[in-house]
Amino acid sequence: MSINTYYTLGKSGLRVSRLALGTMTFGTEWGWGADEETARQLFNTYTEAGGNFIDTADLYTNGTSESWLGKFIYERNLRDRTVIATKFTYNAEPGNPNAGGNGRKNILRAVEGSLKRLGTDYIDLYILHTWDTITPAEEVMRTLNDLVRSGKVRHVGLSDTPAWYAARSQTLAEWRGYEPISTLQLEYSLVERNIEREFIDLGQALGMGVMVWSPLASGLLSGKYKPSEGGSTGEGRLETVKGVSNPAFQKFSDRNWKIVAELEKVAQELDRSMAQVAVNWTANRPGIASVIIGATRLSQLEDNLKALDFTIPAELCDRLESVSRPEAQFPYSFFGDEIQGMIHGGVAVGQQPIGYAPERSIQSTGAGVA
Ligand SMILES: NC(=O)c1ccc[n+]([C@@H]2O[C@H](COP(=O)([O-])OP(=O)(O)OC[C@H]3O[C@@H](n4cnc5c(N)ncnc54)[C@H](OP(=O)(O)O)[C@@H]3O)[C@@H](O)[C@H]2O)c1
Repeated sequence: MSINTYYTLGKSGLRVSRLALGTMTFGTEWGWGADEETARQLFNTYTEAGGNFIDTADLYTNGTSESWLGKFIYERNLRDRTVIATKFTYNAEPGNPNAGGNGRKNILRAVEGSLKRLGTDYIDLYILHTWDTITPAEEVMRTLNDLVRSGKVRHVGLSDTPAWYAARSQTLAEWRGYEPISTLQLEYSLVERNIEREFIDLGQALGMGVMVWSPLASGLLSGKYKPSEGGSTGEGRLETVKGVSNPAFQKFSDRNWKIVAELEKVAQELDRSMAQVAVNWTANRPGIASVIIGATRLSQLEDNLKALDFTIPAELCDRLESVSRPEAQFPYSFFGDEIQGMIHGGVAVGQQPIGYAPERSIQSTGAGVA
């Protein structure tokens, strides 16, 4: 599988690379990004390798990420070849609650800003960045549909929402004839596997391609942070953000150090970098449509772009899976073999003939089968 093999996203006809390029590091405003020349090199290297899927947001580096991305696309005349994903939600004017959130007023404000900074008249994939806890799904979906009808947006997505909200939004789209949600953008990596409880099934059942962020857990899975030194490196994002309360940056824990240690051993056995193995593992998990890779240096991107060039043997995959397996939690703990055996009378149910392609099948229960 190489970067210039393209797949359709969700149930849409939009062709995207399995590895997307994240541009949250385009700009130095946040203290852990890249300067303009480095960002340009990252963009040029990714697109020259055949990548076509680039993720940004109006939030990132106070708008610099979108502005530079628009500039780099223009310099290389790549607008038609590039799939631009950008996002709205975060507030742009302190004190004005309607300059943020997912209400119609803010979405219509935000889209104009993104179009301007990106220097384009349409966005390929417009994504709600984070659930604001209050705006009804009806309002979000109606507004996104209006943007598609106006020609300013081609496809739509959701990021960082509860599963029930995404399910309701997609069902509304289906029943009201709105533009369906093509992607769910969520955090996923060896150390953050909670989306396996619900979102993977959700994406597959309702046709939303899961594109995942922070596959290296903000750099932790590159192996640069050492538990013996309390995670200190003297450099790198997780060093810079120490003390910040953003939950995405809380990566130093005994559980995670065990995962890092196993990853290091597996990477040595494969003679690959830890980052490549971590991205490869993430990309090849069930139901993952695309992985967004990020970098602050060209050498990092060059490393990560090789992540799909090899196969992790099943035995090594199993070791990574078992060290990082999330704890069972209710109600998901009720959907396993034992309880299902009680439901299905110990009979294997749901085995469909080859070619039947149901949206979801019930797996063999095991328990009680003669
Ligand atoms: N929807 C959302 O809420 C959301 C949230 C976060 C991110 N995103 C998107 O996802 C993209 C990727 O997220 P991320 O940047 O957090 O991804 P990540 O892969 O977890 O972290 C990338 C960082 O790890 C370090 N790194 C990367 N490759 C490396 C390598 N080969 N060797 C050593 N260090 C390496 C670099 O940081 P240092 O050089 O600083 O160590 C780099 O900036 C973002 O750009 C953004 O587009 C979306």
